[in-house]
This record gives sequence, structure tokens and C-alpha cells, in this order.
Amino acid sequence: MQVQRVGVVGSGLMGAGIAQVAAANGFQVTVVDVDEARINQAIEGIRRRLARDVQRERLLQSDADAVLARLLTSADADSLESLAVADVVIEAVVEDIDVKSRVFRRLGEVAKPGALLASNTSSLPLSDLAAASGRPERVVGLHFFNPPWALKLVEIVTTASTTDETLDDARALCEELDRVLVQVKDTPGFIANRLLVPFIFDAIHLMDSGVASAEDIDNACKVGLNHTMGPLATADLIGLDTLQFIAESMFEEYGEARFKAPTLLRRLVSLGHLGRKTGRGFFHYGEGV
Ligand SMILES: NC(=O)c1ccc[n+]([C@@H]2O[C@H](COP(=O)([O-])OP(=O)(O)OC[C@H]3O[C@@H](n4cnc5c(N)ncnc54)[C@H](O)[C@@H]3O)[C@@H](O)[C@H]2O)c1
Repeated sequence: MQVQRVGVVGSGLMGAGIAQVAAANGFQVTVVDVDEARINQAIEGIRRRLARDVQRERLLQSDADAVLARLLTSADADSLESLAVADVVIEAVVEDIDVKSRVFRRLGEVAKPGALLASNTSSLPLSDLAAASGRPERVVGLHFFNPPWALKLVEIVTTASTTDETLDDARALCEELDRVLVQVKDTPGFIANRLLVPFIFDAIHLMDSGVASAEDIDNACKVGLNHTMGPLATADLIGLDTLQFIAESMFEEYGEARFKAPTLLRRLVSLGHLGRKTGRGFFHYGEGV
């Protein structure tokens, strides 16, 4: 499959980052979101990160300009017609099965024949999205990590309907995107989140029961376990709302208490303290990003 145009549905934390990675690797990218403000925020974030790379002499100004010139945006989230020319569409909308299913149903109607359809879901059943598209053989999971411009891992997720050709196309695309791949079957949380989510939840329980402070829990993991980030800072980076959505679908699928979202997490989400993106979660960050 020859890929020139990539569509990205959803321009939040992940969609913006995936769009940046695709444009930086030479693809024409169209980013779609229901919320025009999120689209503007996404493009502004990309512009800021590219400017920082230019300032640090990691990137030429002309290359930064070329990346931005390869990015188009659209708010046609209902029709998704702007993606009819895309060779690949990567969905990165909110972690909600109804919203994602609607996107895949619509992609099944408008995407060009043979287009590769991918979801960035962290925990929802990819098989449901594949079925919704009406083209299950062309659907694959491409689970990027946050932030995509810095973390190269992609978990490639297959369903029982994913064909070998689709898997080969997905692998080739990821190589062109300069990613490191692992392959996993459609199971909630795949590899990384299945291990990470209970770990973060134990850290939240430790903090909430007053055993240790958030700072000390994270420091123990950073200095003692050689983790780059502590579990509570990682939760803030993921977004506490997204973490709660992920936990809900993992708990529903596995039925195990270790995947149940802790009360403190739910309370912070109710209060709108969603982590870095709102400036406050387990830690304080000043203005949200
Ligand atoms: N945050 C993480 O660390 C992380 C890491 C890997 C994967 N993911 C997955 O990526 C996906 C997106 O997560 P995020 O953190 O970017 O969330 P986010 O809340 O930052 O962004 C979600 C975006 O989806 C948009 N949206 C909602 N409904 C839409 C629709 N119908 N059409 C188009 N856009 C729509 C919202 O306006 C928003 O901009 C989720 O499936 C999540 O599980 C998240």
C-alpha cells in the first residue's frame, strides 16, 4: 500500500501528537475534531514544539515550516468527508465506545476502498470498532504512547478478522513513522496498560490511605526503581478522565478489583482536576497544557 495522506480523527493530546509525527515523517495529514477550539489548540501545540526544536538547533526552520504546511484541519467530524482521500485513518477520539463506534461506522461509509483504518484506543474492544466499520479485515489497533513525538512505542493490535495484508501495511506504515513495534491481540489494556493501570491504582491507594505523600511515592519509583516518571505523575500525564475511562472498560472486561478506578481518582475527575491538561491532578502544574 502506497501511503500519502493520513487522516487523524480527534485532536486532543494523542491526536495532535500522532498528527505531528505523521507530518514530520513526510505525510500529508488532515486532522478532524468536533471541537474547533481543540483543533486550534492542537496546531498551536505543534507549532510551539517545532519552534522549540528549531531554537535548540535540532530542526531547521524550513523543515518546521514544511511540517506545518503538510497539516490540514477540518471540523467535519459528523460527515468525515475530508477523510475520503486518506490512505490511512487513525482514530484518536475520546475513550468512549459509542463515540468511537460512530466514527468507525462513518469511516466505513466514506473512507476510500482499501484504506487502512486504525484506532488508538487504550482499552476498548477493537473487534467492536472493526465490526462497526463494515470492513473488519482492514481494521487494526495502533496504540501510540504519550507523548507520541517523544515515545516511539506502538502496540499493533489485531482482531480475528485482521488480514495478514492489513498487518503488513500497518507494520510498513509504523516503520515509515519511525516507530518501535510490539504486536498484541485484541485484549483490554494490551500489554503496557494492563501492567501500568493496576500499578498506578496501587500508588493512588497508598497516597489516599496516608501511607506516604504523592512526592515520596513517585520518588521511590524514580530513584529506587529507576523509572523515568513516578506513577502519579504518569497518571497526570495520561489525563485522569482518560485513565478513568480506560479503567472502566478494563474492569468491565476482566471483572478484577485491581482494575477498578479508585474513589480518589473519580473525585478528582468530578472536580475537573484532570492532570497536566487542566493544571492540577495529583500534582499542581500552574496553567494547563
Ligand atoms: N492520554 C494518553 O496518555 C493516551 C495514550 C495512548 C492512547 N490514548 C487513547 O487515545 C484516545 C484519545 O485520548 P486523548 O488523551 O487524546 O484524549 P483527549 O481528551 O485529549 O482528546 C479527545 C479528543 O476527541 C475529540 N472528539 C470527541 N468526539 C469526537 C468525534 N466524534 N469526532 C472527532 N473528535 C472527537 C475531543 O474533542 C477531543 O479533542 C483515547 O482512545 C485514549 O484511550 C490516550
